[in-house]
Amino acid sequence: MLYLFGKMPSDSKKKREQKKKEAAKNRGNKKPQNAETNGATNGVSEENGVDDDRCNDVVTDIKEEIEALDIADKHRSVTGVLVSHPDSRDVHINNLAITFHGAVLLQDTKLELNVGRRYGLIGLNGCGKSTLLRALELKEVPIPDHVDIYHLRREMPPSDKTALQAVFEVDQEQSHERLLDIYEHLDEMDADKAEMKASFILHGLGFTKEMQQTKVKNFSGGWRMRIALARALYIKPSLLLLDEPTNHLDLNACVWLEQELKEYKRILVVISHSQDFLNGVCTNIIHFHLQRLKLYGGNYDAYVQTRMELEENQMKRYKWEQDQISHMKTLTFYFPSCGTLPPPVIMVQHVSYKYADDKNYNKYIFKT
Ligand SMILES: Nc1ncnc2c1ncn2[C@@H]1O[C@H](COP(=O)(O)OP(=O)(O)OP(=O)(O)O)[C@@H](O)[C@H]1O
Ligand SMILES: [Mg+2]
Repeated sequence: MLYLFGKMPSDSKKKREQKKKEAAKNRGNKKPQNAETNGATNGVSEENGVDDDRCNDVVTDIKEEIEALDIADKHRSVTGVLVSHPDSRDVHINNLAITFHGAVLLQDTKLELNVGRRYGLIGLNGCGKSTLLRALELKEVPIPDHVDIYHLRREMPPSDKTALQAVFEVDQEQSHERLLDIYEHLDEMDADKAEMKASFILHGLGFTKEMQQTKVKNFSGGWRMRIALARALYIKPSLLLLDEPTNHLDLNACVWLEQELKEYKRILVVISHSQDFLNGVCTNIIHFHLQRLKLYGGNYDAYVQTRMELEENQMKRYKWEQDQISHMKTLTFYFPSCGTLPPPVIMVQHVSYKYADDKNYNKYIFKT
């Protein structure tokens, strides 16, 4: 499932299947014609066009089928307790734990997401950052219904829509309560404005006017990733989850995206390996480390500084403790060996003795 709001893929699949049937039918009818017009460029390009379509369709079908399997999702178990108010736009989760195939990725930790904050999620490769975003997207943690989420992790699937349409029609593809809000919003903002807004976003991501009118299926994966990103920026969800958004962008587009995200008024959680990008965008850093999430204030540089100071303090404390321990070692007592006593210890003369009357054989009674 590529997007949170899942109606579109099944509709598009139906359309594609219909198209495939028609294409197959046409091909069947056209064969003799092509043979007649053998060598005519028109015929060849038409045939190629159909082949391209079929290729795209097959690729998309395979992708959809793999996604439909949701293999990874089935093997994830997530628990957590919502501690923020259910009507609040902030999301605070306590006792968050995620296991994947029985391996613990997170345990007994806290996730605090506040409106107006832009969080950079960092951690070692394979620690579970993408898994956490996926769990948030699917609301496997108790996130209130009114918090709409958009998770960008894959490129826009190929389609006959133009890049521009793919962006400004994204609202209509969503089957979500938020639709009412959006339609109200769209009533205020006439269709031209919606198109202008979509065009502005695409332009920022490097699409010329001509490219904006090009069909999505004619773009490479990298550019379709940009279209998916443009859709995310167009919707402006309450919780925007971006997994490595700069991967397919050139420098200009990165700079533009940084500026755009800096103004993000809702909640943004972004995974990025680019320190410059995290510095430009983030107000907070969440460090995914040793199965816990640790929140730091400020951008990436501030996080590095804070961690350095913390580590320095820890080191100072460690040294102090070691000093104390070594000092304690110098206070050890020395007991010299007493050696063996030469016999006799006591010598008595002219004394008789017997055991005590109470039969305690440790007691002797001496008599002179
Ligand atoms: N589809 C999958 N099949 C098998 N294992 C998976 C799958 N997806 C994730 N994992 C495993 O789950 C763990 C967490 O993976 P995840 O992709 O969330 O890490 P990450 O922090 O996003 O890594 P990276 O920084 O490389 O993107 C890893 O150990 C990974 O091997
Ligand atoms: Mg990842």
